[in-house]
Amino acid sequence: MPNGGPPPTEDKKLFNFYWFGLFMSEVDPKIFKEVQDMNRRGFIKVCGTMAVASMVDPSLFSHVLAQQQDGMFQAYKKALLVKADGTPLKEGDIKPHVNYIFFYPHTATPCYLINLDESVPPAEVKLRDGKSYRWMGGIGSKKSIVAYSAICAHQWSYPTPQYSFINYYPPHKPSDTTKKAGIIQCCAHLALYDPKQGGSIIDGPADFPLASVVLQEEGGLLYAVGVLGKDQFQQFFDNYRTELRQQYGSTAKARELVDKCTVAEVDKYVQAVVMC
Ligand code: FES
Repeated sequence: MPNGGPPPTEDKKLFNFYWFGLFMSEVDPKIFKEVQDMNRRGFIKVCGTMAVASMVDPSLFSHVLAQQQDGMFQAYKKALLVKADGTPLKEGDIKPHVNYIFFYPHTATPCYLINLDESVPPAEVKLRDGKSYRWMGGIGSKKSIVAYSAICAHQWSYPTPQYSFINYYPPHKPSDTTKKAGIIQCCAHLALYDPKQGGSIIDGPADFPLASVVLQEEGGLLYAVGVLGKDQFQQFFDNYRTELRQQYGSTAKARELVDKCTVAEVDKYVQAVVMC
């Protein structure tokens, strides 16, 4: 959102247009393009709504995406990505092919942030039932930064402070078992996901692709704004109720929605990163 206050006018219509114009100029161009691709009548209708809604929270604009994604997109609180010292994480802080962890949209739901060091274009993510949804590709100046839920879509293996079976394998570090690199692999039952293709299934037992975190860059700051794909949050909270209660004090605390995400290299959070 823009800094500073609204223009000095009492005219509500002009006021709405002012904010809407500023919002549209700062929104991720890919999202703007998605909206442009809607039929014109629908777009005009949406604009009328969003001129007001964007004054409240720009992430509301993302709900338009939800309608276009057949319910596969869920907007959550817009959360700023920050470093361990609390200052905003910048694109230049994200080293290529390093696996970073942060927690979004809930306090206890882990995600991975990866700079794939190459432009990653949008992709169609296919589901086993033949349906698909559109993933919007990498962000940043190189369009190389991507983010995914780190909860395996098979049986919800996830990184804990003790160990992580699901990890990113950079190009120079292929899996000993599958010999594949540039993938996200879960060693629990060898589910393989493609971070260049919106988390699509490459191989293994998962029934769903890995859910992706929708990122936005605004004025050099990075935000998480929602989750695309079938998230596994409910199963995660149901299955790990005891563990999460121990770690966070209560399940309510573990489920709290965040508005800031501290990003750390995964081996700073996890004692044993299990690569297989
Ligand atoms: S839990 Fe990840 S492959 Fe089974």
